[in-house]
Amino acid sequence: MPAVVVLGAQWGDEGKGKATDQLAARTDYVVKFNGGNNAGHTVVVAGEKYALHLLPSGILTPGVVPVIGNGVVVDLEVLFQEIDALEQRGVDTSALLVSTAAHVIPPYNRTLDKVTERFLGKRRIGTTGRGIGPTYSDKINRIGIRVQDLFDEHILTQKVEGALDGKNQLLVKVYNRRAVTVEETVEDLLQYAERLRPHVADTPLVLNRALDEGKTLVFEAGQATMLDVDHGTYPFVTSSSATAGGACTGSGVGPTRIDRVVAVAKAYTTRVGEGPFPTELLDEDGEWLRTTGGEYGTTTGRPRRTGWYDAVVVRYAARVNGLTDLVLTKLDVLTGKEKIPVAVAYDVDGRRVDEMPADQSDFHHAKPVYEYLDGWTEDITGARTFEELPVAAQRYVEHLEQISGVRVSSIGVGPGREATVVRHELLD
Ligand code: GDP
Ligand code: IMO
Ligand code: MG
Repeated sequence: MPAVVVLGAQWGDEGKGKATDQLAARTDYVVKFNGGNNAGHTVVVAGEKYALHLLPSGILTPGVVPVIGNGVVVDLEVLFQEIDALEQRGVDTSALLVSTAAHVIPPYNRTLDKVTERFLGKRRIGTTGRGIGPTYSDKINRIGIRVQDLFDEHILTQKVEGALDGKNQLLVKVYNRRAVTVEETVEDLLQYAERLRPHVADTPLVLNRALDEGKTLVFEAGQATMLDVDHGTYPFVTSSSATAGGACTGSGVGPTRIDRVVAVAKAYTTRVGEGPFPTELLDEDGEWLRTTGGEYGTTTGRPRRTGWYDAVVVRYAARVNGLTDLVLTKLDVLTGKEKIPVAVAYDVDGRRVDEMPADQSDFHHAKPVYEYLDGWTEDITGARTFEELPVAAQRYVEHLEQISGVRVSSIGVGPGREATVVRHELLD
């Protein structure tokens, strides 16, 4: 029984939630290993739409144990809002496990995320404003608050004091905000402790035992390769490891236990927030992709930036993640376009570059070198086998497979759970 990582090949919102949800029917555990409620996964089950942020997408499948791993940052208020909203819709969330070592997002980090962005002005990252960056900074800086700290008021108070020493200086002297008191922060965090207690577990132990017993585990990434703090378009990235290695450090499972690494990629490209994006379209084609693809953020509602498929990006994702399979989503969105451009290389200041530039300045200057593939006009939303796709759509997929260097195992032809063409099973 395999352990499979599902992650994003591009800049997020590729449809990881749908892919994970689909695998969940044959999975015992779904583990979120990075990020927090900056993520937004839309899953459509029997026409019902669910927007998940902090909870792993496996939560919608009865019998699956959803796990929030140690690599995640948890906003407790958001966690319980999300749990309550799902429970009201009849979803049982009682099996959820949360790592003792996951960090919590204290309210002051939400404030700091927003004021830092405001002060950055033109140099802003375009964060989701959820306190993600400051909380990961605290973790690395060793002044973070962890889930286990909520169960010892003395330790919690000490840690909050330690963190606020420096942060209040920043808030008051640099950002002109009021100081935050230790008492209000401790009180805010403690209100969730008893409700959280039954979910808290030594998740690395639970997951390794599950693997010993031959269970199936899916590790679900938030964000994506190009937003990874090491491998993405730094500094226009999130603050966690969204690539395959993050599944290990963020869950406490060793790399020898992972069987497959699956990336989800859209049949075109989108990005939210600031930062370079070589195939971005600022014309009517871009607007057409946004409207046809419903490209508005699940978390912030921001219009997503849109562009054509970029094989340099996906090849890079194949390399840094050691991909075994690609899930290609939203092929249906491209229906009706006569010719579909796909980027196969870049032109960087007059030079042809076939691989992702290692230097960010080069990436900022990269202009796509396009190939133009034939489009199709037939409605493909009802296709359930590869042969049911129009020949031009089949050729499009095969060509993407070839230029991206990884096999396309599954193809999305609509938002619903069932709207998928499977070419190779991902859990065999
Ligand atoms: P995630 O963050 O990677 O889970 O992706 P999001 O949920 O933020 O964005 C993907 C959007 O595309 C969601 O609204 C999905 O319902 C939708 N979606 C996923 N796969 C397909 C597909 O194959 N076709 C269409 N039309 N929509 C899809
Ligand atoms: P899912 O899991 C798309 C982007 C933000 C911003 C940058 C840093 O749904 O694919 P942060 O708040 O993380 O410090 O913001 O990262 N970003 C995402 N973009 N999908 C996401 O998640 C994202 N999570 C963060 O827009 O540019
Ligand atoms: Mg999303």
